This record gives sequence, structure tokens and C-alpha cells, in this order.
Amino acid sequence: MSRLTSGVATAPLSQVDTPLLAVALAQGSVLPASLADLDRAAGGVVARVITSGDFKGKRDETTLLYPSGAKAERLLLIGLGKPGEVSRNSVRRAAAVAAKRARTLGAKQLAFAVAPEARNGVSASDLGQVAVEGVAQGAWAFTELKATPDEPKPEVEGVTLVCDQKEMKEVAAGQQVGDAVAAGHRLTRYLQMLPGNVCTPSYLAERAKQLADQYGFTVTVLDRAKLEQEGMGALLAVAQGSDQEPRFIVLEHRGGGGGGDAAPVALVGKGVTFDSGGISIKPAQNMEDMKFDMSGAAAVLGTFETLGQLKPKLNVVGIIPSTENLPSGHAVKPGDVVKSHFGKTIEIINTDAEGRLILCDALSYVRRFKPAAVIDIATLTGAVVVALGQVAIGAMGNDEALLAEVREAGERAGERCWPLPLWDEYRDLLKSDIADVKNSGGRGAGSIAGGWFLREFVEGYPWVHLDIAGTAYTDGEGPQQAKGPTAVGVRLFTEFILKRAGA
Ligand code: BES
Ligand code: MN
Ligand code: ZN
Repeated sequence: MSRLTSGVATAPLSQVDTPLLAVALAQGSVLPASLADLDRAAGGVVARVITSGDFKGKRDETTLLYPSGAKAERLLLIGLGKPGEVSRNSVRRAAAVAAKRARTLGAKQLAFAVAPEARNGVSASDLGQVAVEGVAQGAWAFTELKATPDEPKPEVEGVTLVCDQKEMKEVAAGQQVGDAVAAGHRLTRYLQMLPGNVCTPSYLAERAKQLADQYGFTVTVLDRAKLEQEGMGALLAVAQGSDQEPRFIVLEHRGGGGGGDAAPVALVGKGVTFDSGGISIKPAQNMEDMKFDMSGAAAVLGTFETLGQLKPKLNVVGIIPSTENLPSGHAVKPGDVVKSHFGKTIEIINTDAEGRLILCDALSYVRRFKPAAVIDIATLTGAVVVALGQVAIGAMGNDEALLAEVREAGERAGERCWPLPLWDEYRDLLKSDIADVKNSGGRGAGSIAGGWFLREFVEGYPWVHLDIAGTAYTDGEGPQQAKGPTAVGVRLFTEFILKRAGA
């Protein structure tokens, strides 16, 4: 999908000249005063559709009108839900619903406004930010690999945020943040969507180098030989079954004080570009979705795209261990014992529990940066889908304050995290007869076992683990987004970093 351009304008709604004017309203049965001018120009249809109860303003509800008399060709009313519950997240969602609708209507441009009466305290800059984020989310489509497009609709190219004259500056400031997040989102979804034969570990490394060139990050890429020198036995064990070379990617944004020496925040993303399960092979049903097993890596790269544009005053390190997980005559086997970068030995019970193997070496490597905080993001366990479905990220960690900070960022981002406990009793699931730890704890508490495994390799820094197996992609479309990749993590990380940078 090509870049979306956004702008801010001020005009009476009746005078907005656009193929699609989208106006978000809260639940209610009276015409908001702010729509009086539009209603008058449209001969009273806006009031009628609201007072009749045909449009109630419920979340995701829409009504499309053709208001002769107003400058806009079409008017789309979008529900924000209950007036007292309107938030950044509901505004973002309404904008996404609007953009998705613009796409199906074939409108290249849309204008978006929120009725001031419905704002419920959402600030002008927040509004600018989340409206652009939402439009980018809803307008997204992946068409790059179709030789003959089956839906020859034009892409949504631009959005104009319509607001009050006195809020324009603030809305525009938020809109700039939204633009940067949208760019990160776009990169992440693109990478997620690419198939495993295109998006290989070396491809991810090339994209990281491009980002570094474009924005001036430092980039380091370790190949198989370097990984051997480093002693990354767990990552190498996963990689040994594949003909694709593994890559270990490190990106550094130096925006912080202390001459760039201030302790960084580190983001670690699981980059399994295809997860067949290895010798513990997965069933064929839906196995193609395992191209999404690099969604954590994609979220880290997308976040760096956003960081490159916003240049926050904070040091941020991105780390991506990347490999395929395939069966072959060279593949690691159940029962094999390998030595991790940290030094602990691991008995591999199940070769399909490969994410934790590549992440544990990254969590050990990251110690050299003396990080202020480390957040890893990974499509780690099917169990988190059972526990939380597609609604929330499973969050675990070793530091309550960091966990609260991450959850708060997730709340602002509309990427909710729900905590799972790493109580000592669960550690017993990973006791091995032969090695320091085993990589699978059996059926119960699968996500926690994954978290506990990682914790065994965390030393000297506050850490949070985000299990995004349920939230990284969807298997059907929603009112606010197309089927497929969600870029989960990009907004959360951006909120987290901007807050830490004091922006
Ligand atoms: N990549 C999978 C987890 C996954 C499952 C992601 C469903 C997205 C959707 C991961 O590598 C995996 O296979 N985990 C195993 C762990 C088990 C063997 C301990 C799982 O969840 O079954
Ligand atoms: Mn697996
Ligand atoms: Zn996996």
C-alpha cells in the first residue's frame, strides 16, 4: 500500500468538498448542535436519521447518506458508542471504520471529523494522532503480489481532518505523530504479509539496513559464522534444519542524553520467518499462517520506521533473532541438548517451542547494552490464543513497575495487555532430567511456561514479555480492518517510547 497523505482543514461541515465526509458521533437520539449547519444544507436528513433512531451511534455503526445541498458527495455517520466511554481508542476505531468504508466505496480521499459534543475530553492532539492512525489501519490493503488485481478499486490516498480553527495547530501536531505511526504500521503489515519464501531472515536484515541508511541508525547483522563465535547455541539449533541462513539483527537509535550513553530501552522481536514446527511438525491445517511468526520482528522494524520519523530523545535498541524452523536431516531433534548464549543448557523436548530458543539468546546478548528496560514481543504460544483470544496481548515480566508502564502504553495505543503470573510454582514445569532447563512444559499453563523459560535468561534488567500469538493477525476481516496482519506492537511501543522520552 502506498503512503497516505494527511492534512488538517477548518470549514463548516456543509462546505467540506470531498468524495466522503465521515463524521463520528456518540450514541444519542438528538442532532448534535455542531451538525446543525450540515443538516440544514442537507435538507434535514441528518436530524431525521438520528431522531428516527435509524442511526443510534453505537460502536462501529454506520449510515451512508447522499446529502444534496452539502459540498460533500457522500456523508458517512459513524457511531462512537456510549458518550461517557468515548476515548482515543473509540475515535481511532471510528476513523478506521470510515477509511475501510472509503476503500470499498472507491473514494480516494476522505474527510474525517468528530462531533465536538462527543469528544469526552479527548484532546485535540490526541484526536489528530488517533484519527490518522485509524485511517491508516482501515485503509490498508495488500495488493503487491497480485499480477491481476481482483478488486480494481483505487487506494485511499489521503485524509483531511476537519476541526475548529482554534484547535488546528494541536490537531496538526498530533497528526504528525499519527503519520509516523502510520508509516511504521504500514511497514510492519507489509513485512508480516510477505510470504516465507520472500521474507527470509536475510530479507529482514536487508530491510533493517535500509532503515538504518534512511534514518541514520546504527545497524549490526550477525550471520551464521558470527553466531557461532558469539555462542548462540539455542538460535543456531533452530536454524540448523533450514537452508536459509539465520540472521541476528541489531538496530540502534541514539536520541537520548548522556552523549548517547544513557541506558537504552531494548525491543526484542521474534523473527521466525516460517514455523513448520521442525521435527515436531505442525498439522497442515492453517500452517501457511506460520509465515506470521515473524510478527514480533516486524513490529520492531515498524517501530524503528516510526522512530526514524519522530526522532524521540531516548536511546532505543532493536534486536531481532531470525531464522526459519524446518525439519530436515540436519534439524535439531527432541531430546537434543544445546548450550545457550547465557551458558545454561537446554533440553529440547519439542522443536516447535522454537521462539523461546531464539529469544533466550537475544535476551542474553542484550545485557551488553546495560538496558534500562527490555520488552520482547513474540508470537510465542497457541495457549495465549486459548486464554485471551484475539482481544489482548499476554504480558509477563520480572518488574511490576515496568509491567504497569507497558500496560498503560497498551491502553493508550488500543493494544491491551493482560497479565499472566510468573509464580515460582510454574518454574517446575521446565525442570529437565538432563539439562538446566527444558523448552516445553507440556499442556498446562503454556503461555506462562513460555514466559518462565525466557525469564531463565533475563539477568540485570527489568523485563516484560508480550505474547502476541492471538493479536498479530486475524483470520477474518473486522469492521475496522482487513483480514490478516494487525501490526500489533507498533503503537504500543511508540506510546511507551514517547512517554519515556517526555514527548
Ligand atoms: N509460533 C508458534 C505459536 C503460535 C501458535 C503462533 C498459533 C501463532 C498462532 C510457536 O512457535 C509454537 O509452536 N508454540 C508451541 C509451543 C509448545 C510446543 C510448547 C505451541 O503453542 O503449541
Ligand atoms: Mn513453533
Ligand atoms: Zn513459532
